[in-house]
Amino acid sequence: MEKEKIILDVDTGTDDAVAIIMAMLCQDFDLLGITTVNGNVELKLTTDNTLRVVDYCGMGDKVKVVQGCDLPLVSTLLPWTPQSTGIMTAYTKNDIRCIPRREGMRTGAEMHGDHLPLPETTLKPIEKSAVIWLVETLLEAEDHSITLIPVGPLTNIAVAMRADPRITKKIKRIVLMGGGYLVNSRTPAAEFNIWADPEAAEIVLQSGCDITFVPLDATHSAYITTEQAEKIRAIGTKEAEFVASTILGRIKGYVNRDRDMSQYDGAPIHDALAVCAVLHPEVLTEVIECNCHVDISGGYAYGQTILDRRELKNGEPKNCKFALKADREMFFEWMENILKNSADK
Ligand code: BDR
Ligand code: CA
Repeated sequence: MEKEKIILDVDTGTDDAVAIIMAMLCQDFDLLGITTVNGNVELKLTTDNTLRVVDYCGMGDKVKVVQGCDLPLVSTLLPWTPQSTGIMTAYTKNDIRCIPRREGMRTGAEMHGDHLPLPETTLKPIEKSAVIWLVETLLEAEDHSITLIPVGPLTNIAVAMRADPRITKKIKRIVLMGGGYLVNSRTPAAEFNIWADPEAAEIVLQSGCDITFVPLDATHSAYITTEQAEKIRAIGTKEAEFVASTILGRIKGYVNRDRDMSQYDGAPIHDALAVCAVLHPEVLTEVIECNCHVDISGGYAYGQTILDRRELKNGEPKNCKFALKADREMFFEWMENILKNSADK
């Protein structure tokens, strides 16, 4: 079977780290490169964290890391957006962090920290902007041959599409982690990745590419529990140990923050589910096909993914698949098998 050619776009981040490990260890992927973007933490940290993960797994000579955009397209410049005023960005009533306009959006500290707890690395990203690398790599490819897996804000992908729209023809599909229908996170209306660069997300949505959303509704339903994390730890490799401790750290974070999740003793590992869904679309259950826009008006719903579920005869064309649930056992087994198989090598 021909391997699936993928590019992973990340803002590493704890769950991004798990996604990267899965993408690197899974034998069914041809991982062309990993592009980094500002998001969970600022760009230099998302890049450094990504390099640490690659190095830790001994993949420094196989996997390219390419650094991308350090700020969202426009949201931090517009005086009326929550991104520039800091309004409505809190998770709890005591959490009133304001986002620095110039240094990027350091919003993920409570779940992601600055640096991942991995050894420092001397690896460097390649000497090119991720936007240029994406354009060049895609233009060289056959039509509809590369799958993009963006699991951070969509800035790099949107800028690349604006820089050279011919790349959309080269993209087989985009399976992205982002958005929410009934579940949201950064604000009552919006999920973090889409909220962190709503205009970029809207550009990508209007690109005409085949797009699958792996939103919070799906990732939360595929939570991983403490018991499952311990099973992963028992595999005994250093990759499994890191994945297990990352999951356990996330469970602690969710239990402290989120009433819903604390009843399960579990946590979503959002970004890894998007990677899984590329090879196993059936892990996503209750997938609806519809028209979706991102709210870019700067008000209470800024960054919301608005799904048109009306079956209008003359409505806007469907532009995405949006998953409302996922199979948590299938997701767990996929992760466990990849880690076990790599242990046997
Ligand atoms: C998304 O936001 C980030 O914090 C995670 O890495 C994930 O990509 C979930 O809303
Ligand atoms: Ca992410």
